[in-house]
Amino acid sequence: MPQRRVLVAVTGGIAAYKVPELVRALRRAGCTVRCAMTASAGQFVAPLVLQTLSGESVRTDLFEREQEGQIDHIALADWAELVIVAPATANLLAKLASGLADDLVSTLLLATRAPLLVAPAMNVNMWNHPATQANVATLRERGVCFVGPESGPLACGWEGEGRMAEPAAIAAEAERHLGAPTLAGEVVVVTAGGTREPLDPVRVFANRSSGKMGYAIAAEAARRGAEVVLVSGPSALATPAGVRRVDVETGLEMRDAVHAELSKCTVFIAAAAVADFRPAARAEHKIKKESLADGEALTIELVRNPDILAEVGAASGRERRLVVGFAAESQDLVAAARRKLERKRCDLIVANDISRAGAGFDGDTNAVTFVCPEGEVEELPLLSKREVAERLLERIETLREKRS
Ligand code: C5P
Repeated sequence: MPQRRVLVAVTGGIAAYKVPELVRALRRAGCTVRCAMTASAGQFVAPLVLQTLSGESVRTDLFEREQEGQIDHIALADWAELVIVAPATANLLAKLASGLADDLVSTLLLATRAPLLVAPAMNVNMWNHPATQANVATLRERGVCFVGPESGPLACGWEGEGRMAEPAAIAAEAERHLGAPTLAGEVVVVTAGGTREPLDPVRVFANRSSGKMGYAIAAEAARRGAEVVLVSGPSALATPAGVRRVDVETGLEMRDAVHAELSKCTVFIAAAAVADFRPAARAEHKIKKESLADGEALTIELVRNPDILAEVGAASGRERRLVVGFAAESQDLVAAARRKLERKRCDLIVANDISRAGAGFDGDTNAVTFVCPEGEVEELPLLSKREVAERLLERIETLREKRS
């Protein structure tokens, strides 16, 4: 990880004694490391130790008089490409989940736009407490990544989950996060989530797409150094670090947003579940149920939405842009995907068999098959959506190399 800028935020748990090892591992990997500590972290590890090992001054106080050459806390938050919180106490997790910024470390964590990698360490009962678990769930939803804690004998005498992950494991996870900037120079536009097609001011036609697959792809592309635009239907998911998100509601809005980004786009990935049909007209006022007699049918006229992927496929020269689509199928997966590949002029179709358990909408896993124009087919096992995103971008990199 040569020259990558990592900020290590240390909070006050006994596991802080392992942080010097973490700093050494990151330095060995070539990172530039700066440390910030809470007041209680200073009870467990001396700032001088971290200063000596990192070769950089260590910040402990939000208000300390700036020493010559020391950068302010916002500049430090902006400087980091990755922030590791190790160890992360229950107190820090609670502060971060609720957005408190009452000391240097919590302020840095709120100010930074870098991805957060958190290594919790605490007593097993503190870890299992519903408050802590709720905070962890909140943070995960916002895109914070966790490494550990592990199970084993704890410093407090208890046994169970709560040990901080080993420094080598944290450094390896950091390496995964920083990755090599293999997509630097690419502008990746990803569509994600489902669209909502209004019938009247209150009602919409929607679908069950969560956006998880598209968001995972956007996060992974940003991690690989691409400039990423995520055109997203309504979604509760957090915007991944380093990604510019454009929010849309309807298929027509998604199409406009995609076209507005297209001139610079070098890789287009359509992971959204765009409604195929929309109500032909949107009623100005709420349609009253009294307008129908009991049992009388309401007829709603639907019209086809534009096929954004097909439009982008038709508008993209092979040299200029790679176009990737998804195909959710319940039978004849590969044949159907191949037909879609040709019809929509894609360079790759990611096909998933929605009849298979654990694949498709809303879950955290997916089982996909890559279908390429040259006839190649690669069936992947059931993987997390993050792993599917990794494999997909590896594929895209290979296609890129072949083309160039
Ligand atoms: O034709 P079908 O809906 O099965 O194709 C799915 C692929 O096309 C997905 O990549 C989806 O994001 C994209 N799509 C689109 N615009 C539509 C419908 C689908 O971009 N209106």
